Amino acid sequence: MEQSVQPAPDPSRRRTLSVLVNAVGATIGGALATLLGVFAVRPGATASRERWLRAGTLDDLIPDVPVPRVVAVPRVDGWYRARARETVFLIWNGARDVTAFSATCTHLGCQVHWDGAAKRLICPCHGGAYDAAGRVIEGPPPRPLDTVATRVDAGSRAVLVRR
Ligand code: FES
Repeated sequence: MEQSVQPAPDPSRRRTLSVLVNAVGATIGGALATLLGVFAVRPGATASRERWLRAGTLDDLIPDVPVPRVVAVPRVDGWYRARARETVFLIWNGARDVTAFSATCTHLGCQVHWDGAAKRLICPCHGGAYDAAGRVIEGPPPRPLDTVATRVDAGSRAVLVRR
């Protein structure tokens, strides 16, 4: 009976195959590491930061009267993105200056509204009241309404608030 002899595998062919398999493994590993790195770092890099939002123009305002304006504030929480509606009161001095404060009561967070007849901001929840400058004049609020930074664009007369 005759036995067939298999030729020994070519060592250079085996080495080439080994290099090729290692290269494919390294490429896949690198791609996965890059992808995981992007997921791990990107939300922190794009975390919520303050920005200037348009809240109207000087033409929308009445001198010395708090005018409510709703702004859509972008919120970023990891990969979750949303726009939160927030009310701010703008008070125009009749010239070029506008001040602003939040409409959120400093007691427990209800939304205050302007009572033009009483010339005060009223909180509907527990009887808190503020004057037109946001100072507490009655009830349980522990501090004035939070101020909001503003600026006026000289060209367009747009009022911007920082949120
Ligand atoms: Fe405004 Fe209580 S939440 S007075």
